[in-house]
Amino acid sequence: MNIAVIGAGNRARKYLGCLPEGVHVRCLVEPDPLRLRQTAARFGVPADGCFSSPDAFFASVISSAAERSVDAVIIAAPDRLHVPLALQCVERGWPVLLEKPAASTESAYRSLLAASERKGVPVALCLEMRFHPYFQRIKELTATLGQLREIDHTEHVGPDRMAHTFVRGLWSRRADAGPIFLSKCCHDADFIFWITGAALDGPVRSKGARTKFRASGAPEGAAYRCVSCPLAATCRYSAVSLYLERGEWIDGFDVPDGESLEQVIRRELASGRYGRCVYHCDNNVYDTQEVTATLMTSAPIALRMHLEGTSLEEGRTTVIHGEAGTLTADGGRIRVEYADGRVLDEDYAHLRNLPLHAGADEALVRDFFAALSAGRQPSATLVSSFTAHRLCFLAG
Ligand SMILES: NC(=O)c1ccc[n+]([C@@H]2O[C@H](COP(=O)([O-])OP(=O)(O)OC[C@H]3O[C@@H](n4cnc5c(N)ncnc54)[C@H](O)[C@@H]3O)[C@@H](O)[C@H]2O)c1
Repeated sequence: MNIAVIGAGNRARKYLGCLPEGVHVRCLVEPDPLRLRQTAARFGVPADGCFSSPDAFFASVISSAAERSVDAVIIAAPDRLHVPLALQCVERGWPVLLEKPAASTESAYRSLLAASERKGVPVALCLEMRFHPYFQRIKELTATLGQLREIDHTEHVGPDRMAHTFVRGLWSRRADAGPIFLSKCCHDADFIFWITGAALDGPVRSKGARTKFRASGAPEGAAYRCVSCPLAATCRYSAVSLYLERGEWIDGFDVPDGESLEQVIRRELASGRYGRCVYHCDNNVYDTQEVTATLMTSAPIALRMHLEGTSLEEGRTTVIHGEAGTLTADGGRIRVEYADGRVLDEDYAHLRNLPLHAGADEALVRDFFAALSAGRQPSATLVSSFTAHRLCFLAG
């Protein structure tokens, strides 16, 4: 099977590392020349399959033999491009594995869904929680709780991810990346609807704010760049500590030939977006948000979701109350206390720091290609995630 990959960033490179046997990258589309060249070399993409823009790639369908042999496409480009790119693929009859969020608005989502159904072309979504053993176990156990009544779910973004992605990074501004609840919590919303099979009933209430990562929150004396900040040694959000000392979140720093990673990081700290003080960035997405709604199965379920980017906590916590029991999951342990006195306690903490979301990334890629080979629908599709995305669109 020959595939095309659009966007050769962090996610795409993870997926390319776990393609099943017999799947080859025939085309790669990436505007950053260094990234295009290095990724093509690493994954053996032929020169006539490398494109610096989607327009050049789609135009070559008419003129070159390369595209005629594309059997499927992975889209891992920035969020706002997902629907326009996926529509062009679907129109050409190419099945798509599409990064989340599938769309930026409900109408765009519906237009892609309609095109996929009209053409009979599957669009699978990269919703790895559905493939993660810990979340799969929560789904199994949720089915033992009887009629569900209440769900309380919190996404603790974690200080490093919050600083890197949603304060300094590419998902820090609503105009570029949409609201944080959509970009971060579409996973969580999908998880909730996937485990319950519920419908959304009535309005969605949402309250968010940017409470911490703003100039007024800066400690006295904080500099605009961490490299020159007198407080850097004690600041939890120091970019020097994050990238240079701890070596975290550095996958996106491409190293040109003849340079070292350290040189690239030092240059970024001195003049790039990732060297900025978290209190002096141009971020405007919320750092805390509460969303409540009523879900419906055969009885109503009260849903409370919470995105928290200001605390030092990291990971997801979930509490589900059913008429037959209560499930509590803290990201490592899952505990169920049943009404009849039974208690179940399972530990999944060993999965926490395993690569590729504990193998879930690889599982979703394999599911996509297995589904294409077998002529079945992939496990996470546009249809099955519509209500979850809708909750996020309504939450704003
Ligand atoms: N499933 C997950 O857990 C998960 C995690 C992080 C990000 N994501 C999503 O994956 C997607 C990619 O995120 P990432 O972290 O890899 O970001 P990234 O910035 O590392 O990669 C995106 C790539 O797309 C390229 N690009 C920009 N404009 C393009 C265009 N017009 N055509 C083709 N490529 C273009 C960029 O140069 C970049 O290399 C985003 O939609 C993001 O929301 C998903």
